[in-house]
Amino acid sequence: MRRKIVAGNWKMNKNIHQGLELVNELIALDSPADVLKIIAPPFVHIAHISQLVKSKSDMAVAAQNCHQETSGAYTGEISAEMISSCGAQYVIIGHSERRLYFGENSALLTQKVNTALANSLTPIFCLGENMEERNANKHLEAVKQQLKDALFHLTPAEFSKLIIAYEPVWAIGTGLTATSHQAQGMHNFIRAEINKKYGKDISEQISILYGGSCNAQNAKELFACIDVDGGLIGGASLKAADFIAIANSF
Ligand code: PGA
Repeated sequence: MRRKIVAGNWKMNKNIHQGLELVNELIALDSPADVLKIIAPPFVHIAHISQLVKSKSDMAVAAQNCHQETSGAYTGEISAEMISSCGAQYVIIGHSERRLYFGENSALLTQKVNTALANSLTPIFCLGENMEERNANKHLEAVKQQLKDALFHLTPAEFSKLIIAYEPVWAIGTGLTATSHQAQGMHNFIRAEINKKYGKDISEQISILYGGSCNAQNAKELFACIDVDGGLIGGASLKAADFIAIANSF
């Protein structure tokens, strides 16, 4: 059975007081224990929030990024080892905002994935096509290329640790959501590509999350798709009731 996961990407939102308040609200609300709730706050909150959720087996913490090098003279940067030592178990890698605003390409993302894995962090690896690619009917090709370029160098044992997040760029923060048909089509395609490269056992066991304007209203329909194992949630993760409603949508 694949793990059901909802991950909340807070992006650059919430100061420490607001962040702790949100986490305390999340803890207080009821949600299914078999759904893993991952919180991805800004770096500076990770140690504090990790302490808060330490005793909750259905909650965990992720960073939103990490540096590709293990340590060194990179003023202002944060290493995977630092993140891990603060209590996080996951790290989002390859988010489209990092690709767009910080010029992150597959060669760099490959290094980040390697460094994360070497430091006991599970990458939540984001990929997805832009609107142009979707309109030109090149979305499958685009996603296949991203998968291949950034991840297919991994050994089966390494690859099996990943979480994949399909996030069509045109749906992120736009209010436009992929239809359940579009989401299922792409998730099924990604799983089939993984099957070709790593075999059935690994492809069946990898959690593939959907991200892009997923909210309490549309989560049920998206999560009902056979290859959709949960969501990577941006805007709707900033309110406890909304995030927990999404966790209750399986
Ligand atoms: P959104 O963001 O839910 O606000 O569209 C998703 C994401 O960027 O991971």
